[in-house]
Amino acid sequence: MCGIFGYVNYYVQRSRSEIVDTVLNGLARLEYRGYDSAGLAIDGDKPDEVLLFKEVGKVAALRKLYASSKINNDRLFDSHVAIAHTRWATHGRPSPINAHPHRSDPNNEFVIVHNGIITNYLALKALLTSKGFVFESDTDTECIAKLCKYVYDLNKDSARPLDFTALAKLVLRELQGSYGLLIKSVHYPDEIIATRKGSPLLIGIKTEQKLKVDFVDVEFPELPDITVANNIPTITTPESAGLSNLTVPHLMTSNLLMPMDGSDLRRSQSRAFISEEGTPMNAEFFLASDPASIIEHTKKVLYLEDDDIAHIYDGELHIHRVRREAGEPAIRSIQTLEMELNEIMKGSFDHFMQKEIFEQPESIINTMRGRIDFEKKTVTLGGLSSYLGTIRRCRRIIMIACGTSYHSCMATRAIFEELTEIPTTVELASDFLDRRSPVFRDDTCIFVSQSGETADSMLALQYCAERGALTVGIVNSVGSSISRQTNCGVHINAGPEIGVASTKAYTSQYVALVMMALLLSDDSISKYERRTSIIDGLSKISSQVEEVLKLNDTIRGIAETDLAQQKSLLLLGRGYQHATALEGALKIKEISYMHSEGVLAGELKHGVLALVDATMPIIFLATHDSLFPKVMSAVEQVIARSGNPIILCNKGESALSKLGKTYRTLEIPQTVDCLQGLLNVIPLQLMSYWLAVKKGYDVDFPRNLAKAVTVE
Ligand code: UD1
Ligand code: M6R
Repeated sequence: MCGIFGYVNYYVQRSRSEIVDTVLNGLARLEYRGYDSAGLAIDGDKPDEVLLFKEVGKVAALRKLYASSKINNDRLFDSHVAIAHTRWATHGRPSPINAHPHRSDPNNEFVIVHNGIITNYLALKALLTSKGFVFESDTDTECIAKLCKYVYDLNKDSARPLDFTALAKLVLRELQGSYGLLIKSVHYPDEIIATRKGSPLLIGIKTEQKLKVDFVDVEFPELPDITVANNIPTITTPESAGLSNLTVPHLMTSNLLMPMDGSDLRRSQSRAFISEEGTPMNAEFFLASDPASIIEHTKKVLYLEDDDIAHIYDGELHIHRVRREAGEPAIRSIQTLEMELNEIMKGSFDHFMQKEIFEQPESIINTMRGRIDFEKKTVTLGGLSSYLGTIRRCRRIIMIACGTSYHSCMATRAIFEELTEIPTTVELASDFLDRRSPVFRDDTCIFVSQSGETADSMLALQYCAERGALTVGIVNSVGSSISRQTNCGVHINAGPEIGVASTKAYTSQYVALVMMALLLSDDSISKYERRTSIIDGLSKISSQVEEVLKLNDTIRGIAETDLAQQKSLLLLGRGYQHATALEGALKIKEISYMHSEGVLAGELKHGVLALVDATMPIIFLATHDSLFPKVMSAVEQVIARSGNPIILCNKGESALSKLGKTYRTLEIPQTVDCLQGLLNVIPLQLMSYWLAVKKGYDVDFPRNLAKAVTVE
């Protein structure tokens, strides 16, 4: 998905090449999110000159384009603002013109980078075109840059000049949709605006001197605000460009002029950034959509809230809001990132995905760390402690997620129901929203997401919150939208997951959900034995994962010699292993582009059996649980049709001996039934990995896919 990176140096002298290196390296750290073009904007050598570099393909291609530009790389800047972007095409194909930054006009007076979607862009574009603006791209984003100039020009001859914050406020209230946005302008040299609505944005802060306080005051207007004073008139444009139900702001000139009594023009000092001498300190700011690109520069970060307008100038960071709601906090804290640089490096591995698969013995431990007391058989989840009563009393639990995260819900639903005795359903976020499924105040809705930014899950979260349900997040990315907008939740603490294919997040989500079920049932005596056996199982699971990882070479062999030439693969399991079959199939199709299907083994005879012959590759998940005999009968049906399945079974499984010799096995250690999926999924992750490597595909960046899917 799109990525934003901006860099501001204030009285920290940097050469142009250092500045460009910083932003390009920042973009490179965002590459894992998936993108198809990239671009950057920096100051030129002439006054009021801003240069744009945009290229299709990888950040390396942009670097090459920049290198070929013959620009003076040694030029020094005491203060400077650079913005950069990786784009994942939504409106308009990947091309240099459609890549960000977008500009207001051929002189690049305003340049912007944007994540998200402006839903009323067609109306804005029509309006701005009628005012003489000439659009050059197919994007929704370009209208923001042009709107900035339009508002600036309207106000430029007024008695009081418009400052950058006031301009941003006037522009933002015309935008509908979602955005993470950086704005740079020749009219406000060495200043930047950063703002967000529904799309993440954080600011890293680096100063030589210690910050005076570890927060930034939020600045609210003192007088009745322009937005409150002039309610934006709206018109409906049913026919405009086929947008049947769209309401668009009416860009009335009066709305875009700063009122003469506006208090926003007064500049204040930001307490955190004043040195002992009372003057602003030298500072660097790193603005990004993802902490992974900031961590190598600084660990001090401030996460913007929706509708915050951050304005950086004179070495200070100011946060503005258009109005103050009752009870709204008046500060934003400057936090310390817990992430380490090596967590986002590949180390000795060839790919992030491989590293993340092999990290699982540790990431699972990190999910449980400080939360399970294996001696006392107790579970503590700090994030849920104030809500346990509400959850235990709820009418039903709805788990909502997408993709792999959805599979972790499927994998744990049965143990949730068994332990909590609360009816539990599992929903794909998009389908749940499509159906406008009924949600009530006494429902508990659990949102499971690695990134915490998935648009479908976020929209479902808003839908459930509006209906008064308790919302709980199971999220990996601390500070992400889902983590912040849920009532409570559990961070899975798996560490950054960079590979687009989710692996360690799946096993950690699985463990977190099992822990939640254990916690919710810890008041039930009748569940004591079952709970104890699961906790004992969890105590051994990390070393069992290590054991499964030893199958790496065998699995590589199977992938390379038996499966890589195949067109299709079936994975069959039932009960707890149905989720494993679905997750294995998703991994395989996602990175090796091979058609694979996870099938409930009980459904085999209802259609899928027609596909089975001596050539169809089939993997059975036949580890030991109460459904094992039924899975075995499916295995027999396949063998009876000349199938040659690969059977994932527990070590020394004697029941297989009656099957003859037309199968192969992968032997997995045994654990408690509801945890077995944690072990069984690992050979499938490895298989997808080796299939993709064998086929020469880009394992960490599969085609057409993004790490965080922030569009519907
Ligand atoms: C927290 C700290 C952890 C510290 C521990 C010590 C954070 C992020 N975690 O962990 O560093 O070691 O206390 O006691 O500071 N939340 C949501 N939605 C979500 C996920 C979490 O609202 O999707 C909330 C939780 O309800 C909680 C907070 O975020 O209020 C932190 O959650 P979590 O990290 O899981 O809590 P702890 O394990 O207690
Ligand atoms: O960040 P999320 O967990 O919300 O993402 C959900 C899916 O987009 C994600 O799991 C996707 O299916 C993975 N690429 C699968 O490996």
